[in-house]
Amino acid sequence: MDQGIVVASANGHIGLPAAVDVLRQSGSALDAVIAGTRLVEANPDDHTVGYSGLPNMLGDVELDASVMEGAGLKAGAVGALQGYQDAVDLARKVMETLPHVLIAGDGSRQLAEELGFEQRDILTPEAEAIWKKRLGDPRDRDASYMSRVSELVAANASDADFASIGEIPHGTVNFIARDRDGNIASAVSTSGWAWKYPGRLGDSPIIGAGNYADNRWGAAACTGRGEMAQRCLTAHSVVTFMRFGMSLEAALEQAMNDLAHLDDPYKSEMNIVALDKDGNPGAASTAVGKTYVVMREDMDEPEERQRMHISVPGT
Ligand code: GLY
Repeated sequence: MDQGIVVASANGHIGLPAAVDVLRQSGSALDAVIAGTRLVEANPDDHTVGYSGLPNMLGDVELDASVMEGAGLKAGAVGALQGYQDAVDLARKVMETLPHVLIAGDGSRQLAEELGFEQRDILTPEAEAIWKKRLGDPRDRDASYMSRVSELVAANASDADFASIGEIPHGTVNFIARDRDGNIASAVSTSGWAWKYPGRLGDSPIIGAGNYADNRWGAAACTGRGEMAQRCLTAHSVVTFMRFGMSLEAALEQAMNDLAHLDDPYKSEMNIVALDKDGNPGAASTAVGKTYVVMREDMDEPEERQRMHISVPGT
């Protein structure tokens, strides 16, 4: 029997011990990634995921999340979910109770209500203050939305607000686990691109873009500008490259290099965490100095590791 392992984006640190505890009790990789993600969704200090996430252009917080099981390629996702914190649990319910993969908008809210999920105002005063400072009151807008968004994207890298948040405004959390039976599962959750157009779905709820798991080859998940991962199917690419014989590191590098071909005026940071089929972790970023976290069953606490830096022009 193998020893379980969990890998996550750096902001998953807070949920990693709970995820590993699930594996220690012979729980499934799916239960582990959900246990970890749930704690990040509940973290009021993380403005990129769940409760206290940064809102869209109208001031509404809209959550995207997905889960995938590598055993039978089962997947579930929700998008643009308002009024509920537990997006990853709802994504699992989509997978387990509906003949669908992705439920978005009003439908996701209806499903949460039908299943008795706890309704919550997930916009916190802190998140609202950051949002207002950058966009002002949308009723007072005198410039087009796209030009405002351009300004926001251009200002991201050097902005003190985002430095204090510790993430870019399209941050996200990734969890991937491999359990004692060798099953792999992945979960991704986000409040998406701050100030986004209402109804915008990023890569996180799109299976293959921000999340993909296949027991036979491994798994990958993304954080960063979701539109780039959507256009290159980045998570699926990493897994496919491993399928065709590349090492985990080579697969990450190839998937990042594919992003260089994107014609995208908003091109920005992309990050990937991954696990190969044998449970070896790896991660890459287009930015220098980024980290991720890893914890195996025999470890007392998460280990923070450097991501491989892959330079992609324009990011
Ligand atoms: N990667 C998260 C997003 O773009 O929404």
